[in-house]
Order: sequence, then C-alpha cells, then structure tokens
Amino acid sequence: MIDNELTRIIKERRSIRKYRNEQITEEQLQTLLECGFLAPSGGNSQNWHVTVVQSKDFIDRLSAANREQVLADKELPQAIKDRFSQSGYSVAFGAPTVLFISAKGSDVNACFLAEHIVLAAESLGLGTCYIGGIMGFLKGEDGKGFVEELGVPEGYELLYGITVGIPDERPEPKPRDYTKVNYLR
Ligand SMILES: Cc1cc2nc3c(=O)[nH]c(=O)nc-3n(C[C@H](O)[C@H](O)[C@H](O)COP(=O)(O)O)c2cc1C
Repeated sequence: MIDNELTRIIKERRSIRKYRNEQITEEQLQTLLECGFLAPSGGNSQNWHVTVVQSKDFIDRLSAANREQVLADKELPQAIKDRFSQSGYSVAFGAPTVLFISAKGSDVNACFLAEHIVLAAESLGLGTCYIGGIMGFLKGEDGKGFVEELGVPEGYELLYGITVGIPDERPEPKPRDYTKVNYLR
C-alpha cells in the first residue's frame, strides 16, 4: 500500500470502546461535522442529518433503559446479559459525544458522511465507534421517547450512532479478508 497521511489514518483507525472522561473541543466537533458534510452524495442530494448528543443525562438514561430491556429478555443468552450488567455500562462506552446519523430515503450517502467523520476524527487523534446495536432498542416501543428527544427531522430514519471522544485504549487491528475482489482487465 502507498504510504501517505490518509492511508496511515485509514490503517490506524480502530473502533474505540473506552474513552477518557473529557469532552472534545467545539473546534474538533465543528471540524468533524464540516468533514462529514463535504462527503459526496448522489446528485448532491445531501439527504443526511446529524444529531449531536453531548448530554450525559441522555446517554445515561438511554443506557439504563436499554440495559433494563436486555435484562428482561428471557431469550437472550446470559453472556450478553453479563456484558450489560457490568458497572459503568454505557451504550456509548463512556464517550462524551455521540453523533446520531439519519437519512431520508436511501442511506448510501449518509454512510459516506459517517465515514468522513470517522476518518477525520482519527486524523484529530479522536476515537470513534459505530453503534448500530442500539437501533433495535431505539426503533422499538421503549425507544420512541428517546428518538423524539433526538429531534430527527420528519421523514428521516435513524441509522446508527457514532461515539466520539479521546481514546483510552489501543486495540489490536481486527483481521481483514483482502481476497474479496476480482478483476476484469
Ligand atoms: C454499521 C456498523 C454498526 C456497528 N455497531 C456496533 C455496535 O453496536 N457495537 C460495537 O461494539 N461495535 C459496532 N460496530 C463496530 C464493528 O464491530 C467494527 O467496525 C468491526 O469489528 C471492525 O473493527 P474495527 O472498526 O476496529 O476495524 C459497528 C460497525 C458498523 C460499521
């Protein structure tokens, strides 16, 4: 692989699930948003929306409600319940910021916006992790109030959250399959 600033950032990014208890700066936040909005979109439709959550109260209440639902679910294996029972459990892994991404119609463009944000965060020394697991809760009956609080615009569908914060871990890279390609040339 050619080595340059961007390829290094791509190689070094990891999903971060442990954060320092320190908020990102407003300049960092605005940089992430601007990088996201610079993403390409079909016909320049920009059919995406970002909800910035920096309310610890919201994240704590969401984590508690999600945990309550998981622990009450008789179908779920104990190993999953144990993970949710750990003290300090947070849907955001302790990150002080979560960006909830939503899209109107196709979600393709919003995914480009999201990955622009994730790579820009890495370039600023910030950690991120997509959180899709919480969507099952948010889209269910118990999640309705939280979705309302998020203020997602009419006609948009929530896709996932992105946790953002100062990393407090350095995970090993996860294995990748580099054979998922064929060539016609
Ligand atoms: C759409 C999407 C949803 C994800 N949801 C979760 C999640 O709910 N919880 C979690 O811990 N990681 C989640 N991840 C992170 C993946 O587990 C991670 O990207 C993958 O294991 C590869 O590891 P890496 O990002 O460190 O390279 C999600 C990733 C994507 C792209």
